[in-house]
This record gives sequence, C-alpha cells and structure tokens, in this order.
Amino acid sequence: MLLLSALDWLDAKSVLLFIVVFLLVVHFQRNRNPRNFPPGPWALPFLGNVFTGFDYHAFNKLAAQFGNIFSIRFGGEKLVIVSGYNLVKEVLVTQGDCFLDRPVSPLFDVIFKGNGISMSSGYKWRRQRQFSIAHLKYFGEGKRTLELHCQLECTFLCEAFQQEKGPFNPLHLINNAVANIIGSLVFGKRFDYDSEDFQNLLRRMQQTLMLAGTLRVQLYDICPWLFKHLPGPHEIVIDNYATLVSFLKREIEKHKRDWDPFDHRDFIDAYIGQIDKKKNDVEAGFNIDNLVISTLDLFEAGTETMTTSLRWALVYMMKYPEIQEKVQEEIERVIGQFRQPCLADRANMPFTEAVIHETQRIGDLVPLNFPRLCTRDTSVGGYFIPQGTTVVTTLSSVLHDETEWETPHQFNPQHFLDEHGRFRKREAFFPFSAGKRGCLGEQLARMELFLFFTSLLQRFSISPPPGQEVSLENQGIFILSPKPFHICLKAR
Ligand code: HEM
Repeated sequence: MLLLSALDWLDAKSVLLFIVVFLLVVHFQRNRNPRNFPPGPWALPFLGNVFTGFDYHAFNKLAAQFGNIFSIRFGGEKLVIVSGYNLVKEVLVTQGDCFLDRPVSPLFDVIFKGNGISMSSGYKWRRQRQFSIAHLKYFGEGKRTLELHCQLECTFLCEAFQQEKGPFNPLHLINNAVANIIGSLVFGKRFDYDSEDFQNLLRRMQQTLMLAGTLRVQLYDICPWLFKHLPGPHEIVIDNYATLVSFLKREIEKHKRDWDPFDHRDFIDAYIGQIDKKKNDVEAGFNIDNLVISTLDLFEAGTETMTTSLRWALVYMMKYPEIQEKVQEEIERVIGQFRQPCLADRANMPFTEAVIHETQRIGDLVPLNFPRLCTRDTSVGGYFIPQGTTVVTTLSSVLHDETEWETPHQFNPQHFLDEHGRFRKREAFFPFSAGKRGCLGEQLARMELFLFFTSLLQRFSISPPPGQEVSLENQGIFILSPKPFHICLKAR
C-alpha cells in the first residue's frame, strides 16, 4: 500500500516535471531570436524582462550596456528599443513606411477597439488621420476662429489667476483652459472653470494617464486572460475611459439632433457629414464608433500634453527668473501692455520662441513615444527587425543626444538661437515625434503654447512661494510631468 502511494507520488512528480520541461522547451522554441536580432538582457522564462522596468531610466541604462538598439521581452512580446537621433530618425522618417502601424494593447483595445486615430492602423488610420488633420486646419486656420478662441481663453485664464489670493497650484485652471481650446474645435463649446462635472472628467483623464504607466497596469497587457478577472488599477483605467466615452457620446447625440448640412460648426458636425459621404468606403471606417474614439483621441492627446508643457514652462521660469525677465522684456518691446499677444508676434519674438522650444526639449514630455509596429522585415542599425516586432523609439534620447546638443542636460535657450539672436530650428527637436505618424496636433500645440505663455508673462511675474525651492524633478512614465507645485503671482 505504502509502496503504491509512493509510486503514485513519484508518478505525479514526474508528470509535473515533464509538463514544466515541456512548457519550457515550447517557450524557448517560440521565443528564440532570429539571426542578427538586436541583443538584450537575459529574460526570465514566461515573464521576460518585466522587472527591468519600462521607463526611460531603465532604457538609458540598457542602451549604455547594449548600444543604441537593443531588445527586451515583455511576456511573449519582443520589443526593440531604439535610441539616439540617427537611429530614431531612421525608424520614424527614413524607413517610416515600415513602422506606421501600432501594436495592439489588450488593455486599450477594451475601449479603443482599433478605432480612432492614435490606436488604429493601416487604411483606416490613414483615412481617419487625413480627415482630422484637414478639419483641424479648416476650423483652426481656415476659419481663423482658433486664434480668437485662444485669446479669449487666455483672458479667462489670466482673470482666474488674478483672483487667486496667495500661493496656488495652477494645474486645474491650466488643464481646464487648454481642454477648452480642443473642446471648442471638437465639440464647439467651452466649460467654466468651476464646472464640477467637467473638472471631474479632466481629473479622470489625468488619473488614467498616470495609472497607464504603472507596472501593475502593464501586466494586464502581458496576461489579459488572467488580469481581466482580477481586481486592480486596470479597472479604474477602463472605468475612466467609459465615463469619457459616455460624455462624448452625449455631445455627439446633441450634435446629431440639430445637425445642419450647410453649416458645420465643429469637428463633430463635419464628421457626421462624412459618414454619409463615405458610406461606400467601409474600410475607411467613417461611422459613429470611430467618431467617438477620434474625438476621445483629440481631446485626450490635446489636453494632457498641453497642460503639462505649460506647467513645465512655469516651473522653468520660476527656476530661472533672469530668463523670465528677458522674455518679459521681449514682450514689452514687441507687444507692450495694451494689446493681447497674437500669432503674428511669434516671428518677432525669437527669444520667447527659443525659451518655449527649450522647455519642450528639457521637459521631455513623451520620453518613449507611442510604440510602432514593424509591418515588413527590415534592418535598422545593421540588425534584423522581423515583421510584427514592436519598436519603441526613445524621444528622450534624441532630446538629450550628446552629439546633437551643446549642453544636453541643461536648460539653455541658446540651443535655439544663432549668433545674431535669431531663432534657429534644430534637426533633433523631436518632442512631437517625426515622420508621417508624428503628432497631428503639432501646429495647434505650437500656437497654443505661444499664446498662453506670452499672455501669462505679459500680465504676471511668476515665482515660487517664499522659502520654497523649485524642483525640476519629474514624475510619470508615458508623460513626464513636474511634481505638484504652487506659484505666487505679481501683477505687472
Ligand atoms: C506639446 C504638446 C504635444 C506633444 C509634445 C505631443 C506629442 C505627441 C507624440 C510624441 C505623439 C506620438 C507620435 C508617434 O507615434 O510618432 C503624438 C501623437 C498624437 N497627438 Fe500629439 N502632442 C502634443 C499636442 C497635441 C495636441 C494639441 C493634439 C490635438 C489635436 C494632439 C493630438 C495627437 C494625436 C491625435 C496623436 C496620434 C497620431 C497618430 O497616431 O497618427 N497632440 N503627440
């Protein structure tokens, strides 16, 4: 009896051992790298390099060890990480056509389902992006309403700043102001800064971006079949997106009710017209689902990036008051105190432009860019990249590339000025990424940054609360933002 149960136990152990060995063999077979694949650190069976960290600090360290192109594995997915101006440009621009698609993220796919602009691929992405660019241009530049919206919003923001008594955190006011700009283009209205519902929506959007970078949420993408049954922060991400989607659906319904084919007030109106025009081109995806996700894309991408860029600009102006004064001197000289800044002033304000560009460079807003999918076998930097590989281009490494910038780790507006004090463009200025899939809001963002920044510094001098040091430390993974801070204002 004892012998039999010992044999049973041995058998159970051998079966278990056999299963483990079998799984390991299958795993190593499936994950064997092709010849001449970029090198990388040793990866744990099944989990891969999840504990290496998925942030630009970890990738900088690995680049120092393995070179400007290396690979890691996240669960069963191989990623190639590319750094430095030359190689990043090769992926995004020179060989851009091989890297236009996005890999599928199981978590984001719960909401986006391959729709919209930022997460779609192929023909649908091309058509959706083309339409969005054309209509942002039409409502922004064509109708010339955007500059007026921006100027009006700058007035509201300055008034709201004026009403603050003592040191305050400018985050929510700035967030609301820039959300109103993209909101005016997309759904044709603005929200007052004390609208509790809108503030709540914006808070959810911020929370989602913070959570999306955490390891616990990234694990969902490795084992969606497991994590979708477990509680965790991915539930908050999904819930927040669901709330945003309901808000946008309500706006779209209202537009449908009083839609006029001869008067398109905003992006949603124009898109509704396009649904009928393109009903025979099903692959292009002009339908309500895509409208919802495209508006979500524009609203989300256009709000957090702008809020954070303006917050960085305030932080650097507090840290370097002498540079703030030089910007104010230029404002005084070109605009004065009796009219609002306008876009035509940009050409006459090289120093201010240089300061805004340098803030974007050093602020390093989207350090790892959005990932790309390789759509045909190719080679980069002498290494083989097979079709289906996810490629991460570290914009951070370009914005701090020691072969491109004179003082890469220092805030130095001279990077963007020539010896005569004229503004000069720099090839390695990649905060918006580059190539055919670079940021589609770049022109809008530049316009907004200039108008908000100059309007604020025209009206106020900005300093930290007495006795407080200004911190240049950042937080976040996908979007790097300043740590929460307070400002003090002196009216000018
Ligand atoms: C300072 C502000 C901004 C920065 C630094 C920024 C940066 C970026 C970056 C790095 C990407 C990824 C591009 C790639 O995959 O190569 C991107 C994509 C995108 N951005 Fe921006 N962005 C900014 C403002 C805006 C604004 C104001 C809008 C609103 C119109 C916007 C809309 C988008 C959209 C829709 C995409 C997805 C494009 C696609 O996948 O084809 N962005 N942005």
